[in-house]
Parts: sequence; structure tokens; C-alpha cells
Amino acid sequence: MKLFTSVHDVPSIKQFVNDALALKANPYAHQDLGKNKTLGLVFMNPSLRTRLSTQKAALNLGMNVMVMNLDKEGWALETQDGVVMNGSTVEHIREAAAVMGQYCDILGLRSFPKLNNREEDYSEDFFNKFVKYCAVPVVSLESATRHPLQSFADIITIHETWTKKPDGRKPKVVLAWAPHVKALPQAVPNSFAEWMCKAQAEGMIDFTIAQPEGYELSEDFTPNANIQYNLEEALADADYVYVKNWSSYKEYGKVLTYPDGWMMNNEKLKFTNDAKVMHCLPVRRDLELSSEILDGPNSLVIHEAGNRLWAAQAVIKAILEEL
Ligand code: CP
Repeated sequence: MKLFTSVHDVPSIKQFVNDALALKANPYAHQDLGKNKTLGLVFMNPSLRTRLSTQKAALNLGMNVMVMNLDKEGWALETQDGVVMNGSTVEHIREAAAVMGQYCDILGLRSFPKLNNREEDYSEDFFNKFVKYCAVPVVSLESATRHPLQSFADIITIHETWTKKPDGRKPKVVLAWAPHVKALPQAVPNSFAEWMCKAQAEGMIDFTIAQPEGYELSEDFTPNANIQYNLEEALADADYVYVKNWSSYKEYGKVLTYPDGWMMNNEKLKFTNDAKVMHCLPVRRDLELSSEILDGPNSLVIHEAGNRLWAAQAVIKAILEEL
């Protein structure tokens, strides 16, 4: 593997999940693979889970790790070509990324969308330029449109916790939109939908998305999803509910009005098949998801966050094997 930015970089989800679970069972089996190799983690935005789990994954593989909050600790970056840099930007991404590529064997990058201009965000201009100019393999730590390490951890968690049924029934997974006070990116739901659609194509799950009118994701990420606008109907017989807020894609970056009743709580759980509840975290309690669920037996959020480590380790291992 040379690049990890989406599910399209993964030949088989089933195989990749098994690779991650083998690492979970034996975390230090490949310490020689990363010896004298350096992972650089570059953050343009805050992080708890991604930062720590990816560092730990690299340490488990014997690597050295360097972390930089480029937005706060680096020079102000210029990303456009052909501009005379006589304003506030100090360093061009061409040099900044190329220099980081000199120090690191693999780089990870987190770069959120600005949510002002859909075409600009969905072009992944910043991320793609970083990949181009750094000239080493890159792992997405969440880009403008996707969060593949999160989605990989999510499918690992579903696979691990699902008990096979005598009739061979596959788990019903529902991505459920939830309220929020801020406009959030579509990266997590886009990515989750993309991974679940591929897992559905591989015969692993059945996938439904529930959202209010106006919150439809780009169809590029939801090719074979069952789309519903009634939460209670979508939740019928659900085995897993993945709760997440996102801002509108159609009215880009906007928080639209929506009917009452979209927060997941124990009342809503009654419509499901005693579903396990997931969220990528951080979560706003009693706004997106009720405390009674987060503190109760149906919550998988901590297990899911734990699996971020094995997802990251499987990805870094696959890249190290091809260096
Ligand atoms: N889920 C997730 O990516 O968490 P952080 O933003 O804290 O890394």
C-alpha cells in the first residue's frame, strides 16, 4: 500500500479486518518492520483519538514518531501556485511538504474542510497537493471528505461484535443523522457510508442511512445504501446504529431546520433489535446521543475508539511492507 485515503485503497475489507484482528491478538509481532523508520503526523486541526492511536500503532511496529500541529506550530502556508507571496503566507506547500518528506518515511495528515465552498472542499486540493509534494506514502488522518481510519475501526468493531445467526442473517447497520449546534463536515458519514456500501457489496452487512430531508450525502459515497427519511422506520430491526451529525451537502455547510425526535435515546432503541450504538467521538451528550445510551450496555463507543489502534496499525504495516 502506498496511500491510504479511502476504502478504494483496500482490496478486500474482510481481509483487512482479519489483518487488524491478528495485530490486536499479537501487537508486537512486527517490531522489526518499523525499525529505523519514522512516521510524521501532521495536524491542521485538533485530535485526541487519531493522534494517540496512530502514534501507538507506529510504536507497536517499532517506528519512531514525530507529531506537528502545523496550523499552530508551522509557518502560514500558501497553497496556490502563481501567487506573489507578499501577504500573510510565509511558506509554500510545495516546500513544506517536500521537506517533511525528507525527514519521514510515512506521513499522516489531518486537514478538515472549511465548509464555505463545496467544490473547493470536495476537490481535496490541500490534501492532494500535500501527497504530491511530500513524495512519501501518506495516511489520511481525516481529510475534507473522508475519515478512513475511523471507518476501518468501525467495520472492525461491527465484525468483532456480531454473532453469526443460524439463518445466516447479516447485521443491519443504520447510519442515523443526529442534531448538533455547529455545522460539522460530512467526512465521517461519507467515509462510513463508503465503507459500509463496500462491506454490503462483500456480503458482510445490510446498510441503511436515516436523515432528515436536505441532509442527503453526495451519491458518490452512498452507491447501494437504503436511504430513509423516517428514523423510527429506519431503526426497525437494526443491529447497529451509528449516530453522527453532519451539515447539509446540498445547501453546503448549512445547519437546516429538521423535525423533532432525531436524538438517539432509549425510547428510540426500542424500535431496534436491541442495537449496539456507535459514535466516532467526540460526542455532545444529550444533544447528539443520550447519556443513558452512552453509559448503558448498548454503547460500543469506547470499544470502537480502542479499535482505532488496530486499524492504524494494519494500515501502517501494509505501507511498511511496500517501502
Ligand atoms: N474520532 C476521531 O477522529 O477523534 P479525534 O478527532 O479526537 O481524533
